[in-house]
Amino acid sequence: MPDLSVELAGVKLKNPLMVAAGTPTINSKAMIKCIKYGAAAVVSKTITYAKLHRLQPRPRFYVVHPESVDSGFYSLYSVELMSELPPEEAVEDLSIAVKYARRYDAIVVASIAGRSMDEWVKLSSTVEDAGVSMIELNLSCPHVEAEEGSLMGKIAGSDPYIVGKIVSTVKSTVEVPIAVKLTPHGADPLAVALAADKAGADIVVATARFQGLVVDIDSMRPVVWGGLGGYGGPWMSPISCSWVYRIVKSGVRACVVGSGGIAGYEDILRFLMLGCRSVQICTAIIMHGFQFIARTLKALDNWLADRGFSSVNDVVGVALPNIVSFEELDRVSVYKSGIDRGKCISCMRCSRSCFYEAIKIMDGEVTVDQELCTGCGLCASICPSKAITLRRIG
Ligand SMILES: Cc1cc2nc3c(=O)[nH]c(=O)nc-3n(C[C@H](O)[C@H](O)[C@H](O)COP(=O)(O)O)c2cc1C
Repeated sequence: MPDLSVELAGVKLKNPLMVAAGTPTINSKAMIKCIKYGAAAVVSKTITYAKLHRLQPRPRFYVVHPESVDSGFYSLYSVELMSELPPEEAVEDLSIAVKYARRYDAIVVASIAGRSMDEWVKLSSTVEDAGVSMIELNLSCPHVEAEEGSLMGKIAGSDPYIVGKIVSTVKSTVEVPIAVKLTPHGADPLAVALAADKAGADIVVATARFQGLVVDIDSMRPVVWGGLGGYGGPWMSPISCSWVYRIVKSGVRACVVGSGGIAGYEDILRFLMLGCRSVQICTAIIMHGFQFIARTLKALDNWLADRGFSSVNDVVGVALPNIVSFEELDRVSVYKSGIDRGKCISCMRCSRSCFYEAIKIMDGEVTVDQELCTGCGLCASICPSKAITLRRIG
Protein backbone atom coordinates (compact mmCIF):
# COMPACT_ATOMS: atom_id res chain seq x y z
CA MET A 1 0.00 0.00 0.00
CA PRO A 2 1.59 3.32 -1.00
CA ASP A 3 1.96 5.96 1.70
CA LEU A 4 -0.49 8.75 0.81
CA SER A 5 0.58 11.15 3.54
CA VAL A 6 1.96 14.56 2.61
CA GLU A 7 3.11 17.64 4.46
CA LEU A 8 1.50 21.01 3.88
CA ALA A 9 3.08 24.07 5.51
CA GLY A 10 4.41 21.92 8.35
CA VAL A 11 1.06 20.18 8.90
CA LYS A 12 0.81 16.46 8.18
CA LEU A 13 -2.12 15.39 6.01
CA LYS A 14 -2.92 11.68 5.85
CA ASN A 15 -3.53 12.02 2.10
CA PRO A 16 -3.55 14.86 -0.47
CA LEU A 17 -7.34 15.23 -0.66
CA MET A 18 -8.79 18.34 0.96
CA VAL A 19 -12.48 19.19 0.55
CA ALA A 20 -12.72 22.82 -0.61
CA ALA A 21 -15.07 25.34 1.01
CA GLY A 22 -18.57 24.84 -0.36
CA THR A 23 -21.77 22.84 -0.08
CA PRO A 24 -19.95 19.64 1.05
CA THR A 25 -18.59 21.57 4.07
CA ILE A 26 -21.70 23.65 4.76
CA ASN A 27 -21.74 22.74 8.49
CA SER A 28 -20.11 20.33 10.93
CA LYS A 29 -22.48 17.51 9.94
CA ALA A 30 -21.37 17.74 6.32
CA MET A 31 -17.70 18.20 7.26
CA ILE A 32 -17.87 15.07 9.42
CA LYS A 33 -19.23 13.13 6.44
CA CYS A 34 -16.28 14.29 4.30
CA ILE A 35 -13.93 13.15 7.04
CA LYS A 36 -15.69 9.78 7.35
CA TYR A 37 -15.26 9.22 3.63
CA GLY A 38 -11.52 9.73 4.03
CA ALA A 39 -10.76 13.42 3.38
CA ALA A 40 -7.53 14.50 5.05
CA ALA A 41 -8.81 18.05 5.48
CA VAL A 42 -12.04 20.01 5.21
CA VAL A 43 -12.24 23.73 4.51
CA SER A 44 -15.35 25.24 6.11
CA LYS A 45 -17.88 27.35 4.23
CA THR A 46 -16.62 30.90 4.38
CA ILE A 47 -17.44 32.66 7.63
CA THR A 48 -18.31 36.34 7.29
CA TYR A 49 -20.01 39.24 9.01
CA ALA A 50 -21.46 40.39 5.66
CA LYS A 51 -25.18 39.63 6.06
CA LEU A 52 -25.93 39.90 2.34
CA HIS A 53 -23.42 37.10 1.72
CA ARG A 54 -25.03 34.83 4.32
CA LEU A 55 -28.59 34.90 3.01
CA GLN A 56 -28.85 32.26 0.29
CA PRO A 57 -30.76 33.03 -2.92
CA ARG A 58 -33.30 30.33 -3.82
CA PRO A 59 -33.05 28.49 -6.06
CA ARG A 60 -29.29 28.78 -6.60
CA PHE A 61 -28.02 25.84 -8.68
CA TYR A 62 -28.07 25.14 -12.40
CA VAL A 63 -26.20 22.28 -14.03
CA VAL A 64 -25.23 22.92 -17.63
CA HIS A 65 -25.42 19.59 -19.55
CA PRO A 66 -26.76 17.45 -16.70
CA GLU A 67 -26.87 14.50 -19.11
CA SER A 68 -23.06 14.59 -19.19
CA VAL A 69 -22.29 14.62 -15.49
CA ASP A 70 -20.89 11.08 -15.53
CA SER A 71 -18.75 11.70 -18.59
CA GLY A 72 -17.44 14.93 -17.06
CA PHE A 73 -18.68 17.32 -19.78
CA TYR A 74 -20.76 19.61 -17.60
CA SER A 75 -20.49 22.95 -15.86
CA LEU A 76 -21.88 23.92 -12.48
CA TYR A 77 -23.41 27.37 -12.39
CA SER A 78 -24.48 28.51 -8.95
CA VAL A 79 -24.95 31.42 -6.66
CA GLU A 80 -24.48 29.75 -3.28
CA LEU A 81 -23.07 32.45 -1.05
CA MET A 82 -21.01 32.09 2.12
CA SER A 83 -21.90 30.29 5.39
CA GLU A 84 -25.45 31.09 6.51
CA LEU A 85 -24.31 30.96 10.11
CA PRO A 86 -23.39 34.18 11.87
CA PRO A 87 -19.69 34.00 12.88
CA GLU A 88 -20.41 33.22 16.56
CA GLU A 89 -22.53 30.18 15.61
CA ALA A 90 -20.23 29.16 12.78
CA VAL A 91 -17.28 29.04 15.16
CA GLU A 92 -19.18 26.90 17.66
CA ASP A 93 -20.07 24.54 14.83
CA LEU A 94 -16.44 24.53 13.65
CA SER A 95 -15.23 23.30 17.02
CA ILE A 96 -17.53 20.25 16.71
CA ALA A 97 -15.86 19.40 13.40
CA VAL A 98 -12.41 20.01 14.91
CA LYS A 99 -13.07 17.53 17.73
CA TYR A 100 -14.32 14.93 15.30
CA ALA A 101 -11.46 15.46 12.83
CA ARG A 102 -8.87 14.69 15.53
CA ARG A 103 -10.34 11.21 15.98
CA TYR A 104 -9.95 10.53 12.28
CA ASP A 105 -6.47 12.02 11.91
CA ALA A 106 -7.95 14.78 9.74
CA ILE A 107 -7.78 18.57 10.03
CA VAL A 108 -10.23 21.45 9.78
CA VAL A 109 -9.39 24.64 7.93
CA ALA A 110 -11.53 27.74 8.54
CA SER A 111 -12.38 29.86 5.52
CA ILE A 112 -13.02 33.51 6.35
CA ALA A 113 -13.87 36.75 4.53
CA GLY A 114 -13.66 40.18 6.15
CA ARG A 115 -14.92 43.49 4.77
CA SER A 116 -12.36 45.54 6.69
CA MET A 117 -8.97 44.88 8.28
CA ASP A 118 -10.72 44.84 11.66
CA GLU A 119 -13.03 42.07 10.48
CA TRP A 120 -10.12 40.06 9.04
CA VAL A 121 -8.37 40.33 12.41
CA LYS A 122 -11.47 39.48 14.46
CA LEU A 123 -12.45 36.54 12.28
CA SER A 124 -8.97 35.05 12.15
CA SER A 125 -8.41 35.17 15.90
CA THR A 126 -11.92 33.79 16.61
CA VAL A 127 -11.52 30.79 14.30
CA GLU A 128 -8.02 30.10 15.62
CA ASP A 129 -9.53 29.88 19.11
CA ALA A 130 -11.91 27.20 17.78
CA GLY A 131 -8.87 24.98 17.23
CA VAL A 132 -8.60 24.93 13.44
CA SER A 133 -5.27 23.81 11.99
CA MET A 134 -5.14 26.45 9.24
CA ILE A 135 -7.02 29.52 8.07
CA GLU A 136 -7.93 30.12 4.44
CA LEU A 137 -8.54 33.66 3.26
CA ASN A 138 -11.38 33.72 0.77
CA LEU A 139 -9.97 36.25 -1.70
CA SER A 140 -11.72 34.59 -4.60
CA CYS A 141 -15.50 34.61 -4.12
CA PRO A 142 -16.98 35.23 -7.62
CA HIS A 143 -20.16 36.84 -6.20
CA VAL A 144 -18.49 39.83 -4.54
CA GLU A 145 -18.93 43.05 -6.51
CA ALA A 146 -16.83 46.19 -6.20
CA GLU A 147 -19.40 48.32 -4.40
CA GLU A 148 -19.75 45.80 -1.56
CA GLY A 149 -16.31 46.29 -0.16
CA SER A 150 -12.89 46.30 -1.67
CA LEU A 151 -11.48 43.90 0.94
CA MET A 152 -13.59 40.88 0.00
CA GLY A 153 -13.68 38.11 -2.60
CA LYS A 154 -12.54 38.42 -6.17
CA ILE A 155 -12.38 42.22 -5.93
CA ALA A 156 -9.74 42.26 -3.18
CA GLY A 157 -8.22 39.08 -4.61
CA SER A 158 -7.45 40.76 -7.94
CA ASP A 159 -5.23 43.37 -6.34
CA PRO A 160 -1.78 42.13 -5.26
CA TYR A 161 -1.28 45.16 -2.97
CA ILE A 162 -4.53 44.59 -1.05
CA VAL A 163 -3.90 40.85 -0.84
CA GLY A 164 -0.44 41.54 0.61
CA LYS A 165 -1.94 43.89 3.22
CA ILE A 166 -4.63 41.38 4.28
CA VAL A 167 -2.14 38.52 4.46
CA SER A 168 0.39 40.42 6.57
CA THR A 169 -2.39 41.64 8.90
CA VAL A 170 -3.78 38.15 9.44
CA LYS A 171 -0.27 36.69 9.72
CA SER A 172 0.54 39.04 12.56
CA THR A 173 -2.72 38.08 14.31
CA VAL A 174 -2.57 34.27 14.37
CA GLU A 175 -0.04 31.46 14.58
CA VAL A 176 -1.64 28.77 12.44
CA PRO A 177 -0.63 28.56 8.75
CA ILE A 178 -2.45 30.90 6.39
CA ALA A 179 -3.75 29.89 2.96
CA VAL A 180 -4.81 32.34 0.27
CA LYS A 181 -7.38 31.16 -2.26
CA LEU A 182 -6.66 32.82 -5.60
CA THR A 183 -9.27 33.95 -8.08
CA PRO A 184 -8.79 33.22 -11.78
CA HIS A 185 -11.45 35.84 -12.59
CA GLY A 186 -10.01 39.03 -14.04
CA ALA A 187 -6.88 38.68 -11.96
CA ASP A 188 -3.31 37.64 -12.57
CA PRO A 189 -3.10 34.74 -10.10
CA LEU A 190 0.70 34.69 -10.41
CA ALA A 191 1.07 38.35 -9.40
CA VAL A 192 -1.34 37.82 -6.51
CA ALA A 193 0.45 34.62 -5.42
CA LEU A 194 3.79 36.47 -5.41
CA ALA A 195 2.32 39.27 -3.28
CA ALA A 196 0.74 36.78 -0.88
CA ASP A 197 4.01 34.87 -0.64
CA LYS A 198 5.99 38.03 0.06
CA ALA A 199 3.52 38.98 2.79
CA GLY A 200 4.04 35.63 4.51
CA ALA A 201 1.27 33.35 3.21
CA ASP A 202 2.08 29.71 3.93
CA ILE A 203 -0.14 28.28 1.20
CA VAL A 204 -1.68 29.51 -2.04
CA VAL A 205 -4.63 27.67 -3.55
CA ALA A 206 -4.77 27.87 -7.34
CA THR A 207 -7.55 28.45 -8.16
CA ALA A 208 -11.22 29.13 -7.33
CA ARG A 209 -13.98 29.43 -9.96
CA PHE A 210 -14.89 32.06 -12.52
CA GLN A 211 -17.99 34.23 -12.65
CA GLY A 212 -20.35 33.42 -15.53
CA LEU A 213 -23.70 34.38 -17.00
CA VAL A 214 -25.99 31.77 -18.62
CA VAL A 215 -28.84 33.29 -20.64
CA ASP A 216 -31.89 31.26 -21.68
CA ILE A 217 -32.80 32.36 -25.23
CA ASP A 218 -36.50 31.48 -24.88
CA SER A 219 -37.19 33.53 -21.74
CA MET A 220 -34.49 36.01 -22.77
CA ARG A 221 -33.22 36.18 -19.19
CA PRO A 222 -30.47 34.49 -17.24
CA VAL A 223 -31.47 31.01 -16.07
CA VAL A 224 -33.00 30.27 -12.66
CA TRP A 225 -32.08 33.18 -10.40
CA GLY A 226 -31.78 35.74 -13.18
CA GLY A 227 -28.30 37.05 -12.42
CA LEU A 228 -24.60 36.28 -12.54
CA GLY A 229 -23.17 33.18 -10.87
CA GLY A 230 -20.05 31.20 -10.11
CA TYR A 231 -19.06 29.03 -13.07
CA GLY A 232 -16.82 25.99 -13.00
CA GLY A 233 -16.47 22.36 -13.91
CA PRO A 234 -14.00 19.75 -15.09
CA TRP A 235 -13.09 21.85 -18.15
CA MET A 236 -11.24 24.31 -15.90
CA SER A 237 -8.61 21.98 -14.49
CA PRO A 238 -6.06 22.62 -17.31
CA ILE A 239 -6.48 26.36 -16.64
CA SER A 240 -5.78 25.83 -12.93
CA CYS A 241 -2.84 23.58 -13.83
CA SER A 242 -1.32 26.34 -15.94
CA TRP A 243 -1.47 28.74 -12.96
CA VAL A 244 -0.05 26.12 -10.63
CA TYR A 245 2.84 25.59 -13.03
CA ARG A 246 3.59 29.31 -13.31
CA ILE A 247 3.38 29.83 -9.55
CA VAL A 248 5.57 26.80 -8.74
CA LYS A 249 8.08 27.86 -11.41
CA SER A 250 8.26 31.35 -9.92
CA GLY A 251 9.90 29.79 -6.87
CA VAL A 252 7.43 30.95 -4.22
CA ARG A 253 8.19 29.78 -0.71
CA ALA A 254 4.48 29.09 -0.02
CA CYS A 255 3.11 25.60 -0.71
CA VAL A 256 0.88 25.48 -3.77
CA VAL A 257 -2.42 23.60 -3.49
CA GLY A 258 -4.10 22.67 -6.78
CA SER A 259 -7.82 23.24 -7.23
CA GLY A 260 -10.45 23.99 -9.83
CA GLY A 261 -12.12 21.34 -11.97
CA ILE A 262 -10.75 18.19 -10.32
CA ALA A 263 -12.94 15.36 -11.62
CA GLY A 264 -11.01 12.28 -10.52
CA TYR A 265 -7.71 10.78 -9.40
CA GLU A 266 -6.10 11.64 -12.74
CA ASP A 267 -6.55 15.37 -12.06
CA ILE A 268 -5.12 14.96 -8.56
CA LEU A 269 -2.04 13.31 -10.09
CA ARG A 270 -1.70 16.11 -12.64
CA PHE A 271 -1.61 18.76 -9.90
CA LEU A 272 0.84 16.69 -7.82
CA MET A 273 3.10 16.17 -10.84
CA LEU A 274 3.21 19.95 -11.25
CA GLY A 275 4.52 20.37 -7.72
CA CYS A 276 1.42 20.52 -5.47
CA ARG A 277 1.41 18.41 -2.32
CA SER A 278 -2.33 18.49 -1.96
CA VAL A 279 -5.50 19.46 -3.78
CA GLN A 280 -8.92 20.89 -2.96
CA ILE A 281 -12.16 19.53 -4.44
CA CYS A 282 -15.70 20.91 -4.26
CA THR A 283 -17.79 20.62 -7.45
CA ALA A 284 -17.09 16.91 -8.10
CA ILE A 285 -18.31 16.09 -4.58
CA ILE A 286 -21.45 18.19 -5.13
CA MET A 287 -22.14 16.29 -8.35
CA HIS A 288 -21.25 12.76 -7.21
CA GLY A 289 -21.80 12.81 -3.44
CA PHE A 290 -19.47 12.20 -0.51
CA GLN A 291 -18.67 8.74 -1.92
CA PHE A 292 -16.56 10.49 -4.54
CA ILE A 293 -13.94 11.10 -1.84
CA ALA A 294 -13.43 7.44 -0.94
CA ARG A 295 -13.63 6.29 -4.57
CA THR A 296 -11.06 8.81 -5.73
CA LEU A 297 -8.63 8.05 -2.91
CA LYS A 298 -8.88 4.33 -3.70
CA ALA A 299 -8.23 5.00 -7.39
CA LEU A 300 -5.22 7.16 -6.52
CA ASP A 301 -3.88 4.46 -4.25
CA ASN A 302 -4.34 1.81 -6.98
CA TRP A 303 -2.61 3.94 -9.61
CA LEU A 304 0.41 4.47 -7.38
CA ALA A 305 0.56 0.79 -6.33
CA ASP A 306 0.25 -0.45 -9.93
CA ARG A 307 3.26 1.65 -10.88
CA GLY A 308 5.32 0.62 -7.90
CA PHE A 309 5.37 3.99 -6.10
CA SER A 310 5.79 3.58 -2.35
CA SER A 311 4.77 7.16 -1.57
CA VAL A 312 2.56 9.77 -3.21
CA ASN A 313 5.42 12.22 -2.65
CA ASP A 314 7.39 10.35 -5.33
CA VAL A 315 5.22 11.91 -8.06
CA VAL A 316 5.34 15.48 -6.73
CA GLY A 317 6.88 17.74 -9.38
CA VAL A 318 7.84 14.93 -11.77
CA ALA A 319 6.20 16.64 -14.79
CA LEU A 320 7.99 19.95 -14.27
CA PRO A 321 11.21 19.12 -16.15
CA ASN A 322 9.12 17.88 -19.11
CA ILE A 323 7.39 21.19 -19.77
CA VAL A 324 8.68 22.80 -22.95
CA SER A 325 8.94 26.58 -22.87
CA PHE A 326 7.55 28.82 -25.62
CA GLU A 327 11.07 29.52 -26.94
CA GLU A 328 11.91 25.82 -27.02
CA LEU A 329 8.83 24.70 -29.01
CA ASP A 330 9.85 22.45 -31.93
CA ARG A 331 9.60 24.67 -35.00
CA VAL A 332 12.02 22.62 -37.10
CA SER A 333 10.96 18.96 -37.35
CA VAL A 334 8.83 17.81 -40.28
CA TYR A 335 5.67 15.77 -39.67
CA LYS A 336 3.11 14.36 -42.10
CA SER A 337 -0.26 12.70 -41.54
CA GLY A 338 -1.20 9.31 -42.95
CA ILE A 339 -4.57 7.53 -43.02
CA ASP A 340 -5.16 3.88 -42.15
CA ARG A 341 -7.91 3.08 -44.63
CA GLY A 342 -8.96 0.01 -42.67
CA LYS A 343 -9.95 2.25 -39.75
CA CYS A 344 -11.26 5.30 -41.69
CA ILE A 345 -15.06 5.66 -41.54
CA SER A 346 -15.11 8.44 -44.19
CA CYS A 347 -16.86 10.91 -41.84
CA MET A 348 -14.72 13.71 -43.39
CA ARG A 349 -14.34 15.49 -40.07
CA CYS A 350 -10.58 15.67 -40.73
CA SER A 351 -11.14 17.21 -44.14
CA ARG A 352 -13.53 19.87 -42.82
CA SER A 353 -10.97 20.87 -40.19
CA CYS A 354 -7.96 20.84 -42.49
CA PHE A 355 -7.43 24.50 -43.26
CA TYR A 356 -4.43 23.63 -45.45
CA GLU A 357 -6.77 21.71 -47.80
CA ALA A 358 -4.52 18.69 -47.53
CA ILE A 359 -7.24 16.10 -46.93
CA LYS A 360 -9.56 15.26 -49.78
CA ILE A 361 -11.30 12.41 -51.58
CA MET A 362 -9.10 11.02 -54.32
CA ASP A 363 -10.22 8.00 -56.34
CA GLY A 364 -13.09 7.56 -53.89
CA GLU A 365 -10.83 7.43 -50.82
CA VAL A 366 -9.88 9.91 -48.12
CA THR A 367 -6.29 10.89 -48.82
CA VAL A 368 -3.72 13.23 -47.32
CA ASP A 369 -1.86 15.32 -49.87
CA GLN A 370 1.68 15.05 -48.48
CA GLU A 371 2.76 18.26 -50.23
CA LEU A 372 0.03 20.35 -48.59
CA CYS A 373 0.13 18.68 -45.13
CA THR A 374 1.95 20.95 -42.68
CA GLY A 375 2.07 18.37 -39.86
CA CYS A 376 -0.11 20.44 -37.53
CA GLY A 377 -1.67 17.28 -36.06
CA LEU A 378 -5.27 18.49 -35.89
CA CYS A 379 -6.63 15.69 -38.13
CA ALA A 380 -4.96 12.96 -36.05
CA SER A 381 -6.36 14.49 -32.91
CA ILE A 382 -9.92 15.00 -34.20
CA CYS A 383 -10.35 11.63 -35.95
CA PRO A 384 -13.06 9.69 -34.04
CA SER A 385 -11.82 6.31 -35.29
CA LYS A 386 -8.13 6.94 -34.66
CA ALA A 387 -7.42 6.25 -38.33
CA ILE A 388 -4.87 9.07 -38.72
CA THR A 389 -1.32 9.00 -37.43
CA LEU A 390 1.24 11.74 -37.50
CA ARG A 391 4.74 10.60 -38.44
CA ARG A 392 7.94 12.51 -38.00
CA ILE A 393 9.84 12.37 -41.28
CA GLY A 394 12.59 14.87 -40.75
C1 LIG B 1 -21.73 25.69 -4.69
C2 LIG B 1 -20.37 26.20 -4.35
C3 LIG B 1 -20.18 26.89 -3.16
C4 LIG B 1 -18.92 27.39 -2.83
N1 LIG B 1 -18.74 28.07 -1.65
C5 LIG B 1 -17.53 28.55 -1.34
C6 LIG B 1 -17.30 29.22 -0.11
O1 LIG B 1 -18.18 29.37 0.73
N2 LIG B 1 -16.05 29.73 0.11
C7 LIG B 1 -15.02 29.56 -0.78
O2 LIG B 1 -13.90 30.04 -0.51
N3 LIG B 1 -15.21 28.90 -1.93
C8 LIG B 1 -16.41 28.38 -2.23
N4 LIG B 1 -16.59 27.69 -3.40
C9 LIG B 1 -15.45 27.52 -4.32
C10 LIG B 1 -14.79 26.14 -4.13
O3 LIG B 1 -14.27 26.03 -2.83
C11 LIG B 1 -13.65 25.91 -5.14
O4 LIG B 1 -12.64 26.87 -4.92
C12 LIG B 1 -14.09 26.07 -6.60
O5 LIG B 1 -15.39 25.59 -6.81
C13 LIG B 1 -13.12 25.31 -7.52
O6 LIG B 1 -12.95 23.95 -7.17
P1 LIG B 1 -13.88 22.79 -7.78
O7 LIG B 1 -13.77 22.83 -9.26
O8 LIG B 1 -13.35 21.50 -7.19
O9 LIG B 1 -15.28 23.08 -7.32
C14 LIG B 1 -17.84 27.18 -3.72
C15 LIG B 1 -18.05 26.49 -4.91
C16 LIG B 1 -19.29 25.99 -5.23
C17 LIG B 1 -19.47 25.24 -6.52
